[in-house]
Amino acid sequence: MNNLESHSFINYKKNLENLAIVRKRLNRPLTYAEKILYSHLDDPATADIRRGASYLKLRPDRVACQDATAQMAILQFISAGLPSVATPATVHCDHLIQAQKSGPEDLVRAKKLNKEVYDFLASACAKYNIGFWKPGSGIIHQILLENYAFPGALSIGTDSHTPNAGGLGQLAIGVGGADAVDVLAGQPWELKAPKYIGVKLTGKMSGWTAPKDIILKLAGITTVKGGTGAIVEYFGDGVETFSCTGMATICNMGAEIGATTSVFPFNKSMVEYLNATGRSEISDFANLYHDYLSADKGCEYDQVIEINLSNLEPYVNGPFTPDLATPVSKMKEVAPKKGWPTDVRVSLIGSCTNSSYEDMSRAASIIKDAEAHGLKAKTLFTVTPGSERIRATIERDGFLQTFRDFGGKVLANACGPCIGQWDRKDIKKGDKNTIVSSFNRNFTSRNDGNPQTHAFVASPDMVVAYSIAGDLRFNPMTDTLKGADGKEFKLKPPHGIGLPPKGYDLGEKVYQAPPEDRASVEVAIDPKSDRLQKLVPFKPWDGKDPKNMPILIKSFGKTTTDHISMAGPWLKYRGHLQNISNNYMIGAINIVNKKANNVQNHYTGKWDGVPGTAKWYRDHGHKWVVIGSENFGEGSSREHAALEPRYLGAFAIVTRSFARIHETNLKKQGLLALNFKDPADYDKINPSDEIDIVGLDKFAPGRDLTMVVHPKDGKAWKCPLTHTFNKEQIEWFKAGSALNNMKNIFAA
Ligand code: F3S
Repeated sequence: MNNLESHSFINYKKNLENLAIVRKRLNRPLTYAEKILYSHLDDPATADIRRGASYLKLRPDRVACQDATAQMAILQFISAGLPSVATPATVHCDHLIQAQKSGPEDLVRAKKLNKEVYDFLASACAKYNIGFWKPGSGIIHQILLENYAFPGALSIGTDSHTPNAGGLGQLAIGVGGADAVDVLAGQPWELKAPKYIGVKLTGKMSGWTAPKDIILKLAGITTVKGGTGAIVEYFGDGVETFSCTGMATICNMGAEIGATTSVFPFNKSMVEYLNATGRSEISDFANLYHDYLSADKGCEYDQVIEINLSNLEPYVNGPFTPDLATPVSKMKEVAPKKGWPTDVRVSLIGSCTNSSYEDMSRAASIIKDAEAHGLKAKTLFTVTPGSERIRATIERDGFLQTFRDFGGKVLANACGPCIGQWDRKDIKKGDKNTIVSSFNRNFTSRNDGNPQTHAFVASPDMVVAYSIAGDLRFNPMTDTLKGADGKEFKLKPPHGIGLPPKGYDLGEKVYQAPPEDRASVEVAIDPKSDRLQKLVPFKPWDGKDPKNMPILIKSFGKTTTDHISMAGPWLKYRGHLQNISNNYMIGAINIVNKKANNVQNHYTGKWDGVPGTAKWYRDHGHKWVVIGSENFGEGSSREHAALEPRYLGAFAIVTRSFARIHETNLKKQGLLALNFKDPADYDKINPSDEIDIVGLDKFAPGRDLTMVVHPKDGKAWKCPLTHTFNKEQIEWFKAGSALNNMKNIFAA
């Protein structure tokens, strides 16, 4: 499968055999994504395959975890009691490095601060046969693309931007840690059979338009929920016009429309990228299976969206949500009308989404042009290389020096400001300001913890243009700038090189392979640690319908995983359930007072923070519920957003709708994830009401449950609740968690 593992192989032959069984049964042309999924079925002969309806049991080729999610995934794997992982896997140290001074200084500090977490992950990886990418190696998705992704593969990763590998023809799906544990333990992994959105690309991009603009435009069309339950598959002549890394950018940000994943069919740019990254044997092998690695003629998508690349213009999406798409040419009117600050304070390029050699070479070309007119960055300017390989290569080829000369700061090869690991100093918390990044996500407070930061996402080209102009209204296609000589000039459109002409420089040694002798390795967990804590299994369901449960919070508006379990400073507690639970829902807005982290204790009447109130309920023997609105839990794959309410004593989370990964995560931890059958019932619930959930003795797939609402004053009323639990998931609920259920199965 790659150059780093001698024990894992690509098995296209087996994939084709599986597919032949499914073809016979379905007797219709298949999309490329369907071919990959069905060729990885655990039992292709009997699997129930109905798009958007049945559940598929799958056998992924690989698992990847980033350090913030790996801690809990590995703690769960350890508690399953197995000697080693059953599926090839890697762990990547990228989320815990805070951007403060410079890449090297920040890395030294992070290694010191996170020593016990890194030691735990390194020792657990060595013990359980997992490849370990050390801090400084780079961002998970970039490393996967460079080393592990291959066409026709199915992989899962405990990070929502795992779909990045779709740029190399892989079906890569973001999951919670508990799903990863299933696959690491050799269990099949379950996914609701997705629907398929075909995106037909025609024409060819030019000038200032970049691959990022395709997904920015698509997000504007579909909104953040438009891809829910679906795989986005790109097709059409336009597909042949991108680099592999450009396709990866598009797939990466498919997470922003809620898509299960996104994928491009095998093509010549993938061959070039595989060859450039030392994997020509894989590209030769894939070339033999060209038919398998693309969609069948005449296959049908559930929805088709067409984008003509020749007419596409650059977009800037935001603030606060990645689907608010504004064409660059309209920003002049839109920004002042909406009251968005037009003075750009910080421009940030790089991240897992946009730090390819091509991105960096295009950014450098714009900067060189500006410098030829005597201009430097007007805004603060940061560069986050996606991997050590990229960093070393763009250092060697002079791009990093160009960025530094321009006034830029080169950060560590890590997530940094993208995940709120940013010690931002240029403004005070609460100051209204604008930043522009080439990242993928821009929810409130995500980057710097300041709810008044208006964060926009755009292509690296546009981010650099804003850095030169310092103004969000700037349109490089029509507007001029004043050079140091006082003369007006227009920036030339960017130009770049897809792959480094001198090849990639691998840089420092940043990979730790599992040792031959793993039996003698001790996994390092200090029992006194405030960063790592062994997991205690949750209690099974007591067999009774819960009565008179208080509502911890009825959340108002968008409730993302960032609202439920904030990142930034809390990342350090990702391996310590008790400590991280102190951030539960502190970003969610209480519908009663429109305040964050301020709810009323149902029994004492006292106003307090959300986690403190939850703990009070738990310690006084009251199960509780949360009421939420639409797409609850959108955003990240972090399972802490489900582990925390379970740890704090929740029984059910009832919403108008859930984001896919969060819903599964809740189920995995033994919680009831339920939906109002009539979304209007959300409005009728008062946070001071008490809740019964009735019908659990007959809990079954497709069968509604009933909620009885007891208002403080007034008559009780009932409403039906729907759910998506299948038989096995109901067993998770009964056992107290999917992990308990797995242990019960192993024990039997
Ligand atoms: Fe990291 Fe941001 Fe990507 S947090 S994995 S760089 S989305």
